[in-house]
Amino acid sequence: MRKPFATGNWKMNTDSSSSVALAKGVADGSTELAGRAVDVAICPPFVYLQSVIRAVSSSNIAVGAQDVYFEEKGAFTGEISTSMLKGIGCTYVLCGHSERRHVLGEGDELVNKKLTAAIGGGLLPILCVGELQSEREARQTEQVVKRHIEEGLAGIGEEKLSAVTIAYEPVWAIGTGLTATPDQAQEVHAFIRKLLAELYDDEAAQATRILYGGSVKPGNTAELMSQGDIDGVLVGGASLKVEDFLAIIQAAV
Ligand code: 13P
Repeated sequence: MRKPFATGNWKMNTDSSSSVALAKGVADGSTELAGRAVDVAICPPFVYLQSVIRAVSSSNIAVGAQDVYFEEKGAFTGEISTSMLKGIGCTYVLCGHSERRHVLGEGDELVNKKLTAAIGGGLLPILCVGELQSEREARQTEQVVKRHIEEGLAGIGEEKLSAVTIAYEPVWAIGTGLTATPDQAQEVHAFIRKLLAELYDDEAAQATRILYGGSVKPGNTAELMSQGDIDGVLVGGASLKVEDFLAIIQAAV
């Protein structure tokens, strides 16, 4: 069975004191569940990673970065490598978040290099995929998601796939209050699992966790999670409030 997984992506929305307060609040409120019934991760901005890692060090909350660069070291001003993240105690890293793709212009090839470097560096990548509103309207959802998965996972053999989590985040549902209905999300999740079975095999597809992200709230988590192929949630806005994220963790179990 795939263990449920609740991840909070804080994006660029916390400062130094709110990062630590939020991390402590989540750790304190989830001691019964985190790591046991559900995996929990939080992804603060780079500069607060270390203080957040310290704040949750006696809990089972894992910490992830929101991005990483694929080169190990050298003249790459402003970038952060996998070994830097691993060295301070990061576990996860988001690769190809829609805001990296659509605001910062990252393409599938770069996402694939980052994901490959993340696995090589001992991090667990969360590969984010999902279509724009216009692509959904043009009935291109499966085509876009297929490209994100095939190109994002290019060169990743089955033995490495176990390090990967997939997150389906329809861009039109991110931060908009519009959530994909459980049926809409399940349809794409089932498509992703079928695709993984084709690219790898059924066993690998069944073992891979596929998260849903896009306006996840305490009130819609349980219904989303009741779908057969939705294994967890990647939460933006609602992960910035301790009570809301704790309620989502509860509902994810
Ligand atoms: P919201 O939950 O704010 O829609 O953000 C989703 C997201 O992008 C998580 O990575």
